[in-house]
Amino acid sequence: MDGMPSNFSKPSSKPPFKSPSKPSRPSSGPKSTSRDIGHAVHTKCTKHALHAKHVVEGAVEIELCPSVFYNPHMQLSRSLSVLAAKAIMSCEEEKAEHEGGAARKQGSFIKALDAFTASGVRGLRYAKEAGFDVDFLDLSKGAVEWCKRNVKKNGVKGKVWHRDVVEFLTSNDAINEQYTFIELDPFGSPIPFLWPAFYYLVRTGARKRPAYLSITATDGPVLCGLQKEAARKYYKVEPLHNSFCHETGLRILIRAAAETALLLNAGVEPLVSFYYRHQFKTILRVQKGEDAARKTLFFIGRAIDPFTKKAYGPIWLGPLHDKQTIKEMERKAREAKERAEQEKKEKGEKGEGGKRGLWRKSLVYVEAFEKELNIDKPYFFSLPDVFKRYGIKGNMLSVKKVISLLRQKGYKAEPTHIDSEGVKTNASVEELVKLIKAHRR
Ligand SMILES: C[S@@+](CC[C@H](N)C(=O)[O-])C[C@H]1O[C@@H](n2cnc3c(N)ncnc32)[C@H](O)[C@@H]1O
Repeated sequence: MDGMPSNFSKPSSKPPFKSPSKPSRPSSGPKSTSRDIGHAVHTKCTKHALHAKHVVEGAVEIELCPSVFYNPHMQLSRSLSVLAAKAIMSCEEEKAEHEGGAARKQGSFIKALDAFTASGVRGLRYAKEAGFDVDFLDLSKGAVEWCKRNVKKNGVKGKVWHRDVVEFLTSNDAINEQYTFIELDPFGSPIPFLWPAFYYLVRTGARKRPAYLSITATDGPVLCGLQKEAARKYYKVEPLHNSFCHETGLRILIRAAAETALLLNAGVEPLVSFYYRHQFKTILRVQKGEDAARKTLFFIGRAIDPFTKKAYGPIWLGPLHDKQTIKEMERKAREAKERAEQEKKEKGEKGEGGKRGLWRKSLVYVEAFEKELNIDKPYFFSLPDVFKRYGIKGNMLSVKKVISLLRQKGYKAEPTHIDSEGVKTNASVEELVKLIKAHRR
C-alpha cells in the first residue's frame, strides 16, 4: 500500500480529483437573499410545463421544469452527503441500542429539513437511501410545486413548506417538528442562515442529543481570498489567495459555523468536509454545552502560511472529518458500489457510467478523506506551484513519487482530495524542495 487513492496508480485512468479551478465567478458576498433567489427560480414554472425533464439520481426519480434549480454536476457531492447521512443513521441506531435498546417509537431516528430544496432531490435521497424522515422547504412557488410532485412520485411522506427559511426556523411550526438535521444549500454564501439554523438546533434537538447541520457554500471568490473586503465583512477573516486556498476556504467556512455555535454555548465537530468543483461542503455534529464549546474553541486560530511565514485566518485548525464517520462512509460506499456492479451485471450493461461510476468515484473520495486525517496541517503543497516558486527545472514529479520520497525520509505524506497535484505533509516546504532537488541530482 502506498497510501494513494486507487486510481493514482493507474496513469491511464482519469484522475479522481481535478486541480481546483480558479475561483472567478464575480460575487461580492452573500447572494442568498430571498429577493434575489425568488426572481431567479419561479418564473414560468407551472404544473404543466412543456419542457419537463425526467432525471434518475441515486434511488430517486424526479421531474424537472427548466426554471427549477437542478445541477447534474453535483451528483457526486449529493452522493457523498448521502453516505454521511447513512453513517449518521448507523451511529444513531448504535447509540439507541447501547441506551438499552430504546427502539424508535415512530419514524426515523433523524428528522431532517431540506431547507433549500429546489426539486427536492437531496432530501429525497436522504429519505430513500439513508432512511431519514424528511420535510422540504423552498421560498420559490415553482420549486415547491415541483418538489411536491417529486415527493409524491417517490412515495415519500414529508411535508413541503413554502416559506422563507429564516422566518420558518423561528416559527412554532418548525419548533413543533423537532428537526435534528438541517440541510443548508443556498446560492452563494450560507452566512445569513447560520444563526437561525444553530439557534433552532440548540433550542430544540442539540440540547439533549447531538443534532446535525449540513452546510454548502459556493462563494468561492470570497472564501479563496479574491474578494478580500467581502471576506473581512462576511467571514471576519484575512483570507489567502494561493495554491491551497480551497482548503483554506473550507476551513474559513467551518470556523464561521463554529463561531456561530459558540455564541449559543454549543460546539461543532466536522463529520466530513470537502471541496468539489465550486462547492465547499461540511456536515457538522452540533452539541450544546460547556464541554463541546470548549473543544470547539480550541480549534479556532490563525495559521502560518508555509510559503511567506505570515499569519492568516482565523480558520478551523482541527480535523476536517471524523474518523468513525469516514470509516462508516467507506463501508457504505463499498456496499453501494458492489450493489451497482451486481445490477449492471444482471442487466448485461457495460462501461463506467451510471450508478456504478458514481459510487466508484465516491469511494475514491472517501478513501482520500481517510488519508487526509493522518496529516495535522491546514494546507497542502501543490507541486506545480512549488516547482514554479522555487525554480525547479525539468519535468514535474508525480504525487506518488513525492509522497514516497517524503516517507523514505520519515515524514508523513498523503494526497489531498482537493488537488490531484497536491501533497499533504508535515515536512516544511524548504525540506520538500531540498528532497526534490536531491532526487533530481
Ligand atoms: C442552490 S438551490 C438548492 C439546490 C438543491 N438543494 C439541490 O441539491 O439541487 C437554492 C434554492 O434555495 C431557494 N431559496 C433561496 N432563498 C431562500 C430562502 N430565504 N428560504 C428558502 N428557500 C430559499 C431557491 O428558491 C432555490 O430553489
